[in-house]
Amino acid sequence: MGAFIPCSQVASGIFDVDSMKSKRRETGQSGHSVFERLTCSVEETQTFGQKLGRILQGADVVALHGDLGSGKTTLVQGIAQGLGYDPSTIKSPTFVLMREYSGSKPFVHLDGYRLEGVVQVAWLDTELMFAPNKITLVEWADRFADLLPDDYLEIRLQYVSTHRRRIQVIPHGQRSPGIVAELIKSQGSAMSGRQSASSESVC
Ligand SMILES: Nc1ncnc2c1ncn2[C@@H]1O[C@H](COP(=O)(O)OP(=O)(O)O)[C@@H](O)[C@H]1O
Ligand SMILES: [Mg+2]
Repeated sequence: MGAFIPCSQVASGIFDVDSMKSKRRETGQSGHSVFERLTCSVEETQTFGQKLGRILQGADVVALHGDLGSGKTTLVQGIAQGLGYDPSTIKSPTFVLMREYSGSKPFVHLDGYRLEGVVQVAWLDTELMFAPNKITLVEWADRFADLLPDDYLEIRLQYVSTHRRRIQVIPHGQRSPGIVAELIKSQGSAMSGRQSASSESVC
């Protein structure tokens, strides 16, 4: 049986990009906070998504990265709930590439799973995918890399163990750092410094 590790010991923190050289290179920006946390259940991932969903506005783009089963669609369900949708209506668009939801906060859910090995995605209609009045949530975002706008929120999900997922939120562009700042506020566990224990869940 695996060792019992409280989530709070392993995971959450806010990092100054300056103190994370590799992240700084990755984002190409300095001085912006990168947020990281661990979730211990599907519900926690969805709750985190809800908080993010409440912050997002038209034209915001969320680029989700992570292996199959890392929790991208689960997080999208939470975000959709935060946007006012019933999460059970959010199905992975794995077989259709894109689904559009037209509630009071319209959003587009893209899934690049089927684009594996596709060299060129320039044939996709970017005006449909990224519009000023719509929020766009992209699974397998690396497969849309050339199409993403300059301003977007990168989210990396990583499988840690059966019920645990590490979630990193990395801002790119002008607006995204503000989203991360609001997210930190909404988490109610604002921490500074290189890494701190989280007051969030223990599992
Ligand atoms: N903490 C967690 N967060 C998200 N999913 C989790 C978590 N723990 C277990 N899971 C399971 O992992 C799977 C995630 O699937 P999904 O969200 O479809 O991933 P992806 O879209 O990245 O392929 C689901 O079966 C879900 O029940
Ligand atoms: Mg998925």
